[in-house]
Amino acid sequence: MYTETVMDHFRNPRNVGSMENADGVGQVGNPKCGDIMKIYLKINNDIIEDVKFETFGCGSAIASSSMATELIKGKSIDEAVELSNKAVIEALGGLPPVKVHCSVLAEQAVKSALFDYSQKTGKVIKGLEDYK
Ligand code: FES
Ligand code: FES
Repeated sequence: MYTETVMDHFRNPRNVGSMENADGVGQVGNPKCGDIMKIYLKINNDIIEDVKFETFGCGSAIASSSMATELIKGKSIDEAVELSNKAVIEALGGLPPVKVHCSVLAEQAVKSALFDYSQKTGKVIKGLEDYK
């Protein structure tokens, strides 16, 4: 049911933890399952220098957040904002259909953290103009 990559990121999640003085923090929850995901970003010169996550949720949510942090680490803000849940699923080698929403949570958590950064700094991020 789960790919090797999903199991790997579930058992050894990358970038777990919180971050002091994060430049952007985003938290999202899924009302259906009650799972919660929080992402912390350290941003310098428009580059995601560091990223951490805390996920209170299912294995797929943990694997998705772990993969999402790996996919945006070292990337530019513009690249990070384009991270889609599809890209997370692809990088994980697939997720069962009932677990697709877990990857959506990861995409939303990244966007929410970037939005927080844009609110704090006044920086306009393309793609987040309509974000609330
Ligand atoms: Fe039980 Fe997400 S609802 S693990
Ligand atoms: Fe809800 Fe995975 S079951 S995030």
